[in-house]
Amino acid sequence: MDTPPVPRPLVDVVPLVRAEGLSRHYTRGSEIVDALADITLDIPRGAFAVVLGPSGCGKSTLLHLLGGIERPSQGAVTVDGVSLERASEAELTRFRRRSVGFIFQFYNLLPFISADENVALPLLAVGQARADALRAARAILDQMGLGARRGHRPAELSGGEQQRVAIARAIITRPPLILADEPTGDLDAAGAEAVVSMLRDLARDGQHTIVMATHNQRLVQASDQVIRLSSGRREPR
Ligand SMILES: Nc1ncnc2c1ncn2[C@@H]1O[C@H](COP(=O)(O)OP(=O)(O)O)[C@@H](O)[C@H]1O
Ligand SMILES: [Mg+2]
Repeated sequence: MDTPPVPRPLVDVVPLVRAEGLSRHYTRGSEIVDALADITLDIPRGAFAVVLGPSGCGKSTLLHLLGGIERPSQGAVTVDGVSLERASEAELTRFRRRSVGFIFQFYNLLPFISADENVALPLLAVGQARADALRAARAILDQMGLGARRGHRPAELSGGEQQRVAIARAIITRPPLILADEPTGDLDAAGAEAVVSMLRDLARDGQHTIVMATHNQRLVQASDQVIRLSSGRREPR
């Protein structure tokens, strides 16, 4: 008698990110700008995906749609089981806080508070007590080799250190999706390498899926998946 196949767990089968026919246009006066047109993609859980293309091709727009910062003009996008084009404002806010960590080119740390306070902020936003949030922030900074820097303000840190603090802030709530928009754009080669290998490791540990936008062709080497954009459209392959 044949034994039935063992079903694979759902989390392995359903991609973390699924977009179909995703488009976004902006109106600039009487002109319509197609920032993104008809993007279809799947990104599996645990992948390190790179969105590659020149300035103006729509990379940031795509990340904003995946992160629930902006809504699509057309099409569907589901991330971690949430249909973002249909979600209410309250659902989108909850999604952004719980499911997504953002990393930006210029770090976007708050200048008047210390590194550990910056890292603790997302935990405060989801209601964690301040002492617990700071304890978690310090633990993660220690893991990243930034323990000695935790009391410093951003201006007292190098660019590479600031970006590592920003990565700590992005992962402190353990969000399934990390969106990094040109995270190495302001760093030297060594700083860029450190940031990319850190993102690579986060994907490898299986807890996070990384989507990194870059115009730097060399950075695709570390990736599992490359999404090439040209004038708002996805290039085949
Ligand atoms: N808020 C906006 N209003 C009008 N046009 C925009 C807006 N945001 C982006 N664009 C346009 O959409 C296109 C894609 O922009 P963007 O996603 O920022 O590209 P990239 O991140 O690859 O440089 C560009 O032509 C840009 O000028
Ligand atoms: Mg951009």
